[in-house]
Amino acid sequence: MIAYVADSRTFFLQGPRSSYVLAVDAHGRLLHLHWGGRVEPGSLGQVAIALDRPFSPNPLPADRRYSLDTLPQECPTGGLTDFRSPAVLVEHPDGTSALDLIYESHAIAPGKPRLVGLPASYCETTAEADTLVIVLLDKPSGVRVELSYTQFRDHDAVARSLRIRNAGDAIRQVTRVCSASFDQPQAERRLLTLDGSWARERQVTIAALRPGVQGVLSRRGTSSHQHNPFIALLDAGADESHGEVCGLALVYSGGFTAQVEVDQYASARTQIGLDAPGLRWALAPNAVFQSPEALLVWSGDGLGGMSRTCHRLFRTRLARGKFRDAPRPILINNWEATYFNFDTEKLVAIAIKAKEIGVELMVLDDGWFGARADDRAGLGDWVCNERKLPGGLRVLAERIEALDMRFGLWFEPEMVNPDSDLYRAHPDWCLHIPGRPRSEARNQLILDLTRPEVSDYVYLAVSTVLRSARISYVKWDMNRHLTEVASPAHPAGEVHHRYVLALYALLERITSEFPDVLFESCSGGGGRFDAGMLHYMPQVWCSDNSDAICRLSIQHGTSMAYPLSSMGAHVSACPNHQVSRTTPMRTRGHVAFTGAFGFELDLNKLSPEDLATARELVVEYNHVRRLLADGDLHRLREPSDNQAAAWMVVSPDRRQALVTYVRISAVGNGPISVLRLHGLDPAARYRIGEEVIGGDALMAIGLRLPPTHDFQSRTWHLEQV
Ligand code: GLA
Repeated sequence: MIAYVADSRTFFLQGPRSSYVLAVDAHGRLLHLHWGGRVEPGSLGQVAIALDRPFSPNPLPADRRYSLDTLPQECPTGGLTDFRSPAVLVEHPDGTSALDLIYESHAIAPGKPRLVGLPASYCETTAEADTLVIVLLDKPSGVRVELSYTQFRDHDAVARSLRIRNAGDAIRQVTRVCSASFDQPQAERRLLTLDGSWARERQVTIAALRPGVQGVLSRRGTSSHQHNPFIALLDAGADESHGEVCGLALVYSGGFTAQVEVDQYASARTQIGLDAPGLRWALAPNAVFQSPEALLVWSGDGLGGMSRTCHRLFRTRLARGKFRDAPRPILINNWEATYFNFDTEKLVAIAIKAKEIGVELMVLDDGWFGARADDRAGLGDWVCNERKLPGGLRVLAERIEALDMRFGLWFEPEMVNPDSDLYRAHPDWCLHIPGRPRSEARNQLILDLTRPEVSDYVYLAVSTVLRSARISYVKWDMNRHLTEVASPAHPAGEVHHRYVLALYALLERITSEFPDVLFESCSGGGGRFDAGMLHYMPQVWCSDNSDAICRLSIQHGTSMAYPLSSMGAHVSACPNHQVSRTTPMRTRGHVAFTGAFGFELDLNKLSPEDLATARELVVEYNHVRRLLADGDLHRLREPSDNQAAAWMVVSPDRRQALVTYVRISAVGNGPISVLRLHGLDPAARYRIGEEVIGGDALMAIGLRLPPTHDFQSRTWHLEQV
């Protein structure tokens, strides 16, 4: 519900338990009054106190108490009396960037309009959400900024985006665009970010806010392994299950910035938006720049509540397609089993063994095309290498299907190796700066998707392969970051963002043409794990690090924002290929259950005991896969102290739950651990093994665990009686 109180020109965006409140002040400027626990529409008292502050200049010289430098704003700009970080910058023909945005009009309507050309959350009926659009005008230039806010009725979540419209008569340059920006007084909050590297993605960092600018960004042209376009603000004292937390996710897969600026009066300005090095987007008269969307999620139940709202929203109103709500197939991928060294017989032998234990889909990874013997050649030549696979993909797919399994395929469509037929034919089709060397990473260059002929080639190459054989699944990889970002087709300052837009257009085209194919996104593991990609592909290969113990913190951090169903997670061989650790087969399985579950090893090489365990894991997973697909996650013990990790998934009706516990580092003659459960029905009784225990007791008293050895795991399946 969105209410407008005309007397005070105040907007109340009402979630089930939260409110986001904006107001137009006496001079027409849009102020942020509140985002937090729900308040009913009415008078809020004096939220924005005006004081005469030294060195904060006054746009209305008669009023020394009025300065943009101290007002809590919703869409701050630069060049006038606010010295803090702007949300929007537009450069005028004279080189200045002043914008004085004054309220012009607003409209409230049921539903949520689509964002043209960009991924976004959506509703299925207009009753699910309301949208407020506020139009602000800079009179001297004719530039309008249209702020869009969608409040979901069933979620404490607001989707925010903006459009910049040039109603003036000269070309202007957009140089900064934050999808969300708001000023709040509580600078004693803490900032959560998800940081890391390749093979160590999305580790949770929580740090106290301090004066000045702090935050994370990516200049890599993708959302990146290094920082994720998701941040959260935690109130003092907030933790996993208590206190107020605000989460912000950018629905965008390119470079981004997410920052908090604490000013001289301890006011915190939080912003999230796209960021491209040297962004200069030419806006012709009457042209419009559409920002990506930011999703703003509020929780009064700590980080856990925030994550559950994110999960439900991302899973059901951001991801799309027929696999959105479906439990995903149990798959086996040959990458860590064979790397580039395979042929049809070897793959079929892996598939036969996998079928025996109940695996449903076989994915052929890198190396099936062109002259791809290793990572030095072949990217761009999407034609099956029949020396490895006689008869081509069609024959291989038929043999897999004859086992009553489905077949999936790896692509890296955005790339080209200099050693490829594609590059020899079109050496200018990659991003590059004429007259400068072309930097390579993993021996590859990036195709300039902003050129229609290049995008069309990629579309044709991928779709031709998808039509050539029965392919039910695609792993869409992307294994380097953008450098020499230039294109003959566009001004340099536009190419970063245009690349992302062109990628989205390509993904839209391919995924809508092949609605029966399950698409998984990947970028050297989780280098492009963001809300934008989830709109096209409901799951992402979480990390190239498949070690069960490393995965605990990777999946824990990922789960802050992203649903379990989106995290590709596989059982791999031991000693593990990334960190050399040996963990029990059962533990590898239990960790991989809480994602899109699969295997990535040659089952023919397992000991009979491990193979038997793998078979049991599939049986156990089948028993809980519906619950895992749409249940609510409760993190019980975070892996940060390297002692143990525990979490549980509770079905939406609270009739079932799966609890998982993994011991990381054992202690000699250790204490008994207590695991208090969450999210159950306190009035219900649950069968757990041989016992029946009340939900109240399971939550108040918990389970008792004797000391265990390193890397041991346990699961408990709870069912209401
Ligand atoms: C990336 C992916 C891996 C694998 C390789 C193949 O690193 O993340 O899973 O597909 O590429 O080259």
